[in-house]
Amino acid sequence: MRHLLITGAGRGLGRALALAALKRGAHVFAGVRDPSAWPDPPPNLDVIMLDVTVPASIADARRTIGARTSSLDLLINNAGIHQGSPEVRSAPEVSFGSLDGEGLLRMVDTNAAGPMRVTQAFADLLARGDRPIAMHLSSRKGALTEKHDGGNYGYCASKAALNMVGRALAHDLAPLGITSVVVHPGLVRTQMGGPDAPLAPEDAADALLDLAARLEPSDRGRFLRWDGSEHPW
Ligand SMILES: NC(=O)c1ccc[n+]([C@@H]2O[C@H](COP(=O)([O-])OP(=O)(O)OC[C@H]3O[C@@H](n4cnc5c(N)ncnc54)[C@H](OP(=O)(O)O)[C@@H]3O)[C@@H](O)[C@H]2O)c1
Repeated sequence: MRHLLITGAGRGLGRALALAALKRGAHVFAGVRDPSAWPDPPPNLDVIMLDVTVPASIADARRTIGARTSSLDLLINNAGIHQGSPEVRSAPEVSFGSLDGEGLLRMVDTNAAGPMRVTQAFADLLARGDRPIAMHLSSRKGALTEKHDGGNYGYCASKAALNMVGRALAHDLAPLGITSVVVHPGLVRTQMGGPDAPLAPEDAADALLDLAARLEPSDRGRFLRWDGSEHPW
């Protein structure tokens, strides 16, 4: 995998993915909302302004990256928000009785529409890649069959929507030779996962890159865990 684009690569799992890919010799386009996240970018890492909720930002990123490479081998739609993110703190969409829908819409915009927009914009570069993969970081919280309690409406619904987006993309991207999968990255020690999550970001990132390296076109449309095992829908 020579050329990667990772969204939300300023911190958390996205940053760990960027560093792990660099160690493997890749050229990384690190999509960020705030370039100060990489004040002194390492060699082979291009910091790209990319807000997945803003179509003009995606178009600018596409132009910038298109001027620097003619192909992408791996797109990781990593950017995501949850009920604790600054964008949704005012409308948490967690508890029945205080729901107003605004937080849910923000989460769907970032977590499901974002990957849809970004994948569409970069599909032509991916189509020229080597065994190209579009990997969308979903969550076990998006699995309908694993929802056995109430609450957490916004995040769960947004990841369920992403699962469907990833599945539809799998069909539309197959003729271009691009394999689209949704992946639960595990519970990872980031701002979102919290300090008690079992997986270090570095270990989750390595596992996700290992997984991307062994995916085959026949895997398209699957919902997988970071270790490659099948996740229930
Ligand atoms: N951590 C876990 O245990 C866990 C479990 C299941 C799934 N996931 C999924 O894994 C992915 C990464 O999670 P994480 O734990 O690294 O989360 P995180 O620590 O909260 O980081 C989220 C990243 O997404 C970026 N982002 C948010 N909104 C964006 C937007 N509109 N445009 C571009 N970037 C945006 C943030 O950028 P800023 O720095 O600009 O805010 C940040 O870099 C997410 O999709 C998450 O849902 C994580």
